[in-house]
Amino acid sequence: MKIVVSNHKMNLTLSEVESYHHELLTLKTKNKIIVCPSFPYISILKNDTYHLGAQNVFHLTEKNTTGEVSAKQLKSLGVEYCIVGHSERRDKFSETDSDINQKIILLQKENITPILCIGETLEEKPNKETILKNQLKKDLENIDITSIIVAYEPIWSIGTGMIPTTSEIMTTIKFIKNYIKENHNSDIIVLYGGSVNDNNIDTLKTISEIDGYLIGGASLDTNKFKTIIEKLEVI
Ligand code: PGA
Repeated sequence: MKIVVSNHKMNLTLSEVESYHHELLTLKTKNKIIVCPSFPYISILKNDTYHLGAQNVFHLTEKNTTGEVSAKQLKSLGVEYCIVGHSERRDKFSETDSDINQKIILLQKENITPILCIGETLEEKPNKETILKNQLKKDLENIDITSIIVAYEPIWSIGTGMIPTTSEIMTTIKFIKNYIKENHNSDIIVLYGGSVNDNNIDTLKTISEIDGYLIGGASLDTNKFKTIIEKLEVI
């Protein structure tokens, strides 16, 4: 069973998300599908076919915080998963590893599974292992990692159409799994994210180290998204 996460980011209007939802309700799959829509749509997408995820959560519990959403509120909407540490948030909102660590703590209190995104920029690629190790160390400090999903997303691959080679992905995912084993004495689910689409999924699905995929652009088109899921039925 693979985990397939659709990250809508800031896409889709209400009518678009409604037809997306209806298309997805016809899905029959043995894989676990998690859809992360924009906040306003979460409550109308509750269903029994796919799982609901959020794209973000606030890292503090201070209720007088205009414009933010808490883990408790997400829980009350039926959210089971939440993306944290996406590179777009680290970059555009200057989210720190300590903020991300706090988000994970608050999500776990509500029994929401964090999907922790880590990854390196193109400039950082030669020092990739140090970068990833640093993110894992700080983001997961004092965290019970039994209910964590890690998404390895090379930043240079997100939305660019470029993906690492099969052997690069294999090595990096092995590296992440080994790091967690050595430091937390546990196995971990690791997804790959970055320009996954209905064509390259044929190659990506041959990499057995990958436990699933975090998909942005290609998951917005239900035809492409369904093709990806169909292709994953046969491994
Ligand atoms: P992409 O986005 O599939 O459009 O590259 C992935 C992500 O940002 O999670």
